[in-house]
Amino acid sequence: MIEFVLNAQNVGKDVTKILILSSKDDVSLRIENFFGKQKAKDVFSALKNRDFSPKKGKKLVLDDGSEKVILFGVADKLSDLEIQYVGAEISDLLKKDLKALIDVPQSLWAKCALMALGMELNLYSFDKYFTTKKSDDFCQLETVYFSSTLGEVKNVGFDKMRALANGVRYGRDLCNEPSNKLTPSEFGADVKRLEYLGLEVEIIPSEKLREQGFPLLYAVGQASVNPPCAVIVKWKGNKDKKDFDLALVGKGITYDAGGINLKSAPNLLGMHRDMSGAAVAVSVLKILAMTKTKVNAAAVLVLAENMPSGNAYKPQDILLSGKGISVEILNTDAEGRLALADGLWFASDKLKSKTVIDIATLTGAVAFALGEEFAGLFSNDDALASKLLKAGENSGENLWRLPLCEAFAKMLKSDVADVKHIGGKFAGSSTAAAFLQKFVKDKVKWAHLDIAGVVGRERGRPLEPKGATAFGIRLLCEFIWSLK
Ligand code: BES
Ligand code: MN
Ligand code: ZN
Repeated sequence: MIEFVLNAQNVGKDVTKILILSSKDDVSLRIENFFGKQKAKDVFSALKNRDFSPKKGKKLVLDDGSEKVILFGVADKLSDLEIQYVGAEISDLLKKDLKALIDVPQSLWAKCALMALGMELNLYSFDKYFTTKKSDDFCQLETVYFSSTLGEVKNVGFDKMRALANGVRYGRDLCNEPSNKLTPSEFGADVKRLEYLGLEVEIIPSEKLREQGFPLLYAVGQASVNPPCAVIVKWKGNKDKKDFDLALVGKGITYDAGGINLKSAPNLLGMHRDMSGAAVAVSVLKILAMTKTKVNAAAVLVLAENMPSGNAYKPQDILLSGKGISVEILNTDAEGRLALADGLWFASDKLKSKTVIDIATLTGAVAFALGEEFAGLFSNDDALASKLLKAGENSGENLWRLPLCEAFAKMLKSDVADVKHIGGKFAGSSTAAAFLQKFVKDKVKWAHLDIAGVVGRERGRPLEPKGATAFGIRLLCEFIWSLK
């Protein structure tokens, strides 16, 4: 992670200087103050022939070989998310530099932490498996100084920012990890190490899954040489209360080959990230612990590898869920909803959480509907849904609400069991959600986030470089922190 230093008196040599300007600024004054009279002359003369004004989208990079300086225009008023984008864009200009000094306008004195967060998220990379590190391929940035020649930058929000950045990096690392390294037990062992933060971590091993309420998860994972497990993580930030305010249930399929309904070659790609929901859930708890958030929250991670083998579960098998509902299996590639069904019942019945949110790379159909721009939101509670939608907008991890109703539930009628686990050809995301709903205890407020379309970026975008996004961490933290 980058070291951020505020209001340093002396920053030494070889520091890239960035001046952030808005149209509210006295541009000449700020340039003279920041660069000093001598250098300011160079900057003014460069400005004469270049297209720069102190506005959003304008920037000017001057590099004479001995010193690099940047003028960066921003809007007068910026939302928290826009400030993160400013940080992201600036960080792109600094990858090859060791140190940078950023002079911010007064409107940002109290908001540098958001800029820092933007830089951290944007500069994330998953590079641990390169055996040689060519230094110029990788980001070099070590130290960023924030200051203002007109006043003082305030030390607000940096602890929260560091926890968020750390949590998102942790989540992305888990999601980027290949499936030969991150098996269900490795995942569990990694989560166990978080106990140092005050989290309680209980691992329910494969042999105990059926008796402890996870027979469907067991069935999904039974074909693999890497056995399934469930991991229960608890953060009791509010010691005055016994109950859980919130439980997150995360789909953790460390590899989804489809099982006996084996996926085709192109559809297998990306399936090491089918555990993104579980990674997001545990990362949120990590952040709650790091920030000592006053809330009681649990995460239920349902971890398994969905593989074909002589021991695999099969189409038209009938399984008894942890809740006691019998389920007719029709396609072993619809494994996520089975694993989640037991997780949802565990969270709402055993943990007795009043609110349960599951997060899962559940259906290809949601990616057809919403692309890479939105995750699908389903909920049985309008107030919960609108809070989540709002948190999505604020965090930049956007949700779009999709329908959940009796008509979809009816599509799951089976001739041989209480339910079948897939609907027909149409409304695949809604029938999946309708299936999940049957495993949520009555009166529990529940939301389901289908993140299948948004967990990986082929190209990368600001704040979300190539690879895993771990979509949902910022959204869910924002949601939790906004609860009163
Ligand atoms: N993990 C997949 C969903 C998925 C697809 C995630 C593409 C990310 C990208 C899920 O387990 C799955 O295979 N779903 C099937 C369900 C179908 C068999 C009813 C699907 O969406 O095709
Ligand atoms: Mn599948
Ligand atoms: Zn899957």
